[in-house]
Amino acid sequence: MRRILVTSALPNANGAIHLGHLLEHIQTDIWVRYQRLRGNECIYVCADDTHGTGTMLKADELGISPQQLIDQVRIDHRQDFKDFLVEHDNYHSTHSPENEHYSALIYERLQDAGYIFTKEVEQLYDPEKQLFLADRYVKGTCPHCGVDDQYGDNCEACGATYDATELGEPRSLLSGSPPTLESSTHHFFDLAQFKDFLNDWISTETVQSEVANKLKEWLDAGLKAWDISRDAPYFGFLIPGTDKYFYVWMDAPIGYMASFSNFCDGNDLNFEEFWAKDSVAEVHHFIGKDIVNFHALFWPAVLKASDFRLPTRIHSHGFITVEGRKMSKSRGTFINARTYLAHLEPEYLRYYYAAKLSPNNDDIDVNWDDFVQRVNSDLVGKIVNIASRCAGFINQSSESTLAPTIHDMQLFHVFVDAQETIGQLYEAGDTNRAVREVTALADRANQYIANQAPWELAKTDGQESQIQAICSLGINMYRILVIYLKPILPRLAEQSEKFLGCDELGWADIGTPLINHPISDFEPLFQRIDKNAVKGMVDASREDDIETADNPMITISDFEKIDLRVARIVAAEPVEGADKLLRLTLDVGDHQRTVFSGIKLAYAPEDLVGRLTVVVANLESREMRFGTSEGMVLAAASGDSGVFLISADTGAEPGTRIT
Ligand code: 2FM
Ligand code: ZN
Repeated sequence: MRRILVTSALPNANGAIHLGHLLEHIQTDIWVRYQRLRGNECIYVCADDTHGTGTMLKADELGISPQQLIDQVRIDHRQDFKDFLVEHDNYHSTHSPENEHYSALIYERLQDAGYIFTKEVEQLYDPEKQLFLADRYVKGTCPHCGVDDQYGDNCEACGATYDATELGEPRSLLSGSPPTLESSTHHFFDLAQFKDFLNDWISTETVQSEVANKLKEWLDAGLKAWDISRDAPYFGFLIPGTDKYFYVWMDAPIGYMASFSNFCDGNDLNFEEFWAKDSVAEVHHFIGKDIVNFHALFWPAVLKASDFRLPTRIHSHGFITVEGRKMSKSRGTFINARTYLAHLEPEYLRYYYAAKLSPNNDDIDVNWDDFVQRVNSDLVGKIVNIASRCAGFINQSSESTLAPTIHDMQLFHVFVDAQETIGQLYEAGDTNRAVREVTALADRANQYIANQAPWELAKTDGQESQIQAICSLGINMYRILVIYLKPILPRLAEQSEKFLGCDELGWADIGTPLINHPISDFEPLFQRIDKNAVKGMVDASREDDIETADNPMITISDFEKIDLRVARIVAAEPVEGADKLLRLTLDVGDHQRTVFSGIKLAYAPEDLVGRLTVVVANLESREMRFGTSEGMVLAAASGDSGVFLISADTGAEPGTRIT
């Protein structure tokens, strides 16, 4: 028996569980359930990731304490996962005594071994809010292309990366005020010392090959020391002996240990047996590909340096898209767990995700037509249908008792023998191929039933035992498919066990058919998806967005402060040194003005000349590297769908006020 500890990435405590989290937790849960079905000891822990400025600000916004926020969110997260049949053994919190203990212990070991050093760091500081600004809380003008409104780490317009201190005219997103530059002492983990160790570690099949290649690139580019401290105020744990806090990404993975340690208490488990350096147990982390650096560089280096065991394997998956695009609130494709559950059954999604997941990092697209089709045609139409086709005959003509023999032993063995392949596919996380194997077997079963046509035999008297033999094999084939699908569809399995009148099915039961065995009266085991329910969910997700939008209403007098005017573009030219900017000369009725606009990728300058557009005429002028921008033209823009300049209808006079 293997002893295995499994984790999913810890969801942030400042937002709801959505389709993206569910992909990972369902993927992990399937793997865990498979291990248990094989008789292995498999413990699955998770927790909420609670620390950081985000939690502090969210709690402020809601007028509650961080503790109140994380307590409430944890209740919601646990319920969401439970309702999707995700069976964590423990769902803890990183704001826990166990996590504080292990964070301090690990830090002290790193320090004793000489891997920690301190350095002065200059950072942007919000004097009004009195806190240092993480990159996502500061915006300004890109130092490379001059486009305004860019975050502190990279520019969405030209793709450049930079330090927040390089932004032009920076402003704090928390108070709106210009930040000052302040210096403070930070604590660093000397990651560079682990280059050779990491090089060896990633070449031992602990990560998928595509991940290993990416990691190798990073290693070759050179590893920088990792800043593991943050200044007060910060929601987190103090670093022992200092007035600084652990950076959230330092104590988050330690949260895996902490949750496990919390589970050990009262469950007759020994922490050391799983985490000591020489442990023979396995540790598997399931994560998204965006956080492999934390799990396959920092985390193993920290574990190694603090004398703990290393992860056995990091299973990383791709991102989720819905209908081919990033999840979007306005399109109704940003779907929360709760909204889904108000309209659809959890096992539909479990089956669909399983049918899409593979052991690589490819992104997974959720397409709702495909979702309905796969569940209705494959799962209900092919697999569950085997039971419904056969059960009625057994119930009616054989007093609900299965036949004393197997009608076609060769066929039965095709089903039994598939266990090897399907088992390997589960182990490798290749559930899409496991599902395909099961569907192919279901096709065989349906073919057999169609060829034998028990409904034809039923037209003649005296065929009862033949009908019983055929339908009993059908039921026995269905039973094997239920075992194969049990990690994915635990509720269907449970209902099928009741119908079959048998105890909890395990992998070891595959080869032993039910003979002379009473079954229950058949009741439908699984409903088809009603397409309207999917539509209802998408509509509700759009509504959710409107209800929860952060935009407070404005009054008509607020709106009247904005002087919108019709403008005619009289000249449009590219701007040297700026990838996305055009310099527009606008006729605004009684005068002309120059406006810089980030629309170059969407429009050729010559196509714009003569067009009518809308300008914010009373916007303060802005000094840019390329000149002064006197206002702003309006365009619709949403990251992935492009940029669309707003036009006034033909005939509108330049300078006319828009009301
Ligand atoms: O990316 C995230 O959502 C993080 N909260 C994941 C943390 S995983 C682990 F390291 F704790
Ligand atoms: Zn830029």
